[in-house]
Amino acid sequence: MSPRSPISFASSAAPVFVTGSAGHVGANLVRRLLEDGVRIRVLLRQEDNNEGLDGLEVERAYGDIRDLDATRQAIEGCQGVYHVAAKVSTIDGTGAHRREVYECNVLGTRNVLKAARECDAGRVVVTGSFSAVGHDLDDPSAPSDETMQFYPMERTMPYERSKALVEHECWRAAAAGQDVVVATCCAVVGGADFFPSRLGRTLCDYTDGKLHAFVDGGFEFVAARDIVDGHLLCMRKGRSGEKYIFSSEYKTISDILDLYEDVSGIPRPRRRIPASLMYVFSEAASFYLSRVHPDFPQRFTPGAIRLLKKRRHANLNKAKSELGYRPTSIRDAVQEAYAFHYHQRKAITNPLAKRPRSNGAAQAEHAAPDPRSHLAADGGAS
Ligand SMILES: NC(=O)c1ccc[n+]([C@@H]2O[C@H](COP(=O)([O-])OP(=O)(O)OC[C@H]3O[C@@H](n4cnc5c(N)ncnc54)[C@H](OP(=O)(O)O)[C@@H]3O)[C@@H](O)[C@H]2O)c1
Repeated sequence: MSPRSPISFASSAAPVFVTGSAGHVGANLVRRLLEDGVRIRVLLRQEDNNEGLDGLEVERAYGDIRDLDATRQAIEGCQGVYHVAAKVSTIDGTGAHRREVYECNVLGTRNVLKAARECDAGRVVVTGSFSAVGHDLDDPSAPSDETMQFYPMERTMPYERSKALVEHECWRAAAAGQDVVVATCCAVVGGADFFPSRLGRTLCDYTDGKLHAFVDGGFEFVAARDIVDGHLLCMRKGRSGEKYIFSSEYKTISDILDLYEDVSGIPRPRRRIPASLMYVFSEAASFYLSRVHPDFPQRFTPGAIRLLKKRRHANLNKAKSELGYRPTSIRDAVQEAYAFHYHQRKAITNPLAKRPRSNGAAQAEHAAPDPRSHLAADGGAS
């Protein structure tokens, strides 16, 4: 099969297919596609929390990406696929957990790619993870670009390994002629966070005064609106068989707490726990909780601390020069997240917390240029 050129969805009657649409990235992507007038079909699991889609005009198909037949039926008649779904996890977990991560992420991606191929559904944009991008082994904080291979010889999380294998599925499909692009995502900050995400939960716990200390270290963070732009750019302009890294800014955990203090007015914790000390504690806690209280949310898992300790940075040159990607700011993204959890989820209940305007984006203090103008100027996002 020869790769097809990306299509313009605005002029196409066929719906675009989106997996993972109730999740943090998916809910933001779906909202943006709807704003752009795109017809959408989503794949949902009936029994799960699909609040992120409530009230939205989308076609709903039900099924699990581990089920090839259900995925094929759901994709039939669509043009263009955003495969966002994954089992996101930062724990080692039990054997059953690791199997779920593998099957949802690796076999699920294989199924989505196969179904898209068989249904002639055109380009598939797959959401990748920065944790599956390699780094300089002698200097992990040196900026990584798309050429750096995931290093499998050190301790990594099952999720990280699975996302490296997800890419492998993509490159295999691309080598066989399928039109596939990977949009590599960093830690997401922003609104439409219905589950909520780990960062969203941490923000709410922070305002409730439940955070008494912080772990040092840092990572690349991406505003939800930026990773959505990244997906649209990959669909419209990405080269098949390539991946593009999308981040907004590198931030330390201390930087993030400064932003939380700014948006909420609640003073931040000052006590810093060295990551190596916290690591020892988290190993024991995570081992116990994963087995005895598997549903208890774990904030600082050994895997998350390993990532923070590396202080990884991203090189965005490829996305900027090839796709015209222009990242916005994490400050605005934190404001959007805060407004969402305050107004929509009503999860910020501390009477001392500032009341944000109803739309976090509107609260951004500086008059930033419309981050999406580069898409609009080019004929509208597809
Ligand atoms: N959030 C981040 O910081 C981050 C960072 C790097 C990469 N990413 C990547 O970004 C993508 C989206 O992440 P997210 O943060 O939006 O995750 P999320 O909020 O946990 O949402 C994941 C979505 O995937 C769906 N899903 C999982 N397994 C499925 C299956 N077997 N069949 C059908 N649907 C399934 C979930 O459906 P249910 O609701 O039914 O479970 C959920 O809607 C993922 O590919 C992830 O690897 C995210």
